[in-house]
Amino acid sequence: MMEGTKELIELRDVRKEFGDVTAVDGIDLTVRSGEFFSLVGPSGCGKTTTLRMISGFETPTSGTVRLAGYDVAGVPPEERDTNLVFQHLSLFPHMSVGENVGYGLKKSGVGKAERKQKASEYLELVDLGGYEDRNPTELSGGQQQRVALARALVNEPSVVLLDEPLSSLDRKLRKQMQVELRKIHEKTQGAFFYVTHDQEVAMTLSDRMAVMNEGQIEQVGTPEEIYRNPATPFVADFIGDTNLFDGRAHRENGHAVVEVGETGSISFTTDDEVDDGTVTVSVRPEEFYLADGADGHFEGEVVERYFQGDQTNYVVEPDGEGVEEVTVVVQGRDAPVERGEHARFGIEEDAPVVFS
Ligand SMILES: Nc1ncnc2c1ncn2[C@@H]1O[C@H](COP(=O)(O)OP(=O)(O)O)[C@@H](O)[C@H]1O
Ligand SMILES: [Mg+2]
Repeated sequence: MMEGTKELIELRDVRKEFGDVTAVDGIDLTVRSGEFFSLVGPSGCGKTTTLRMISGFETPTSGTVRLAGYDVAGVPPEERDTNLVFQHLSLFPHMSVGENVGYGLKKSGVGKAERKQKASEYLELVDLGGYEDRNPTELSGGQQQRVALARALVNEPSVVLLDEPLSSLDRKLRKQMQVELRKIHEKTQGAFFYVTHDQEVAMTLSDRMAVMNEGQIEQVGTPEEIYRNPATPFVADFIGDTNLFDGRAHRENGHAVVEVGETGSISFTTDDEVDDGTVTVSVRPEEFYLADGADGHFEGEVVERYFQGDQTNYVVEPDGEGVEEVTVVVQGRDAPVERGEHARFGIEEDAPVVFS
């Protein structure tokens, strides 16, 4: 278990500027051995640049990158204990699958017999045993991506860096490869550092993840922590689906009362620490329930209703002014409220996240 706590990647106040563009704006990150860690954020937020600074293809403008405890400033990529799998396939078309996988070992002076044996071992690991003599062009996109992965794993780096490796695959294959990536990671000792703009993929795969926006890290945590307790409105909105409302808060009988909409269309109390004044509120669609009678927190007209079998999604226009619509998911096979009907909804206690 000692090994499980070793810090393999440490970024301290790392910045990268390209001319007057700040691609990475002073970030701190720690990835430990054995972790499947994702860096997730919208396109252009600085993910690839971060990864390239870890692998050594880019030099930070300022800050420190440590790998396994050592400051790697000035250490070239081939001397770092990291391997990179790119977004776009980069297999050598004139080499067999086996030669592609063994290529990294050849560069580091490993003899032919051992190269062959290692290549076979790692092709086996990615479920492509027996494909050694094929040409990469004979393989499907998913198989080629697995060869690229085997090539990145074959010299057993402490850290495998993956830059949106599944984004060129179709949806079904992508789902399949996600499961396989997770399994492959479990069979290796090192850390996977996975970059993606797809929050669903990051949530599915990661032990921990960092949410990045405009060059900065907004939150680091397990997928559950981040989903349940988003640190910022951006994180609440980017990870999973949510309703974001502008509102006001004031204290009453020891609780904070939060009102949303000009006429307080939606209102609830919370025991969370909330400063008086303007707030932003995040309520996930599944945190509402259908209320009956006087119970509940708001009323409105159901303007859309999407029956999904095991749940029903509603779009509701609350009464009063200031809240355009609320997305509500009601679990279960029953969907008692029809489109066009007026209904009352409640919010689960302590579910909303209130940002002061
Ligand atoms: N070599 C470069 N020269 C100039 N600008 C760059 C370069 N690489 C990245 N950028 C800019 O830095 C920002 C972050 O890019 P990138 O790290 O590729 O984001 P992501 O991988 O999250 O999509 C973008 O605004 C991008 O245009
Ligand atoms: Mg990128």
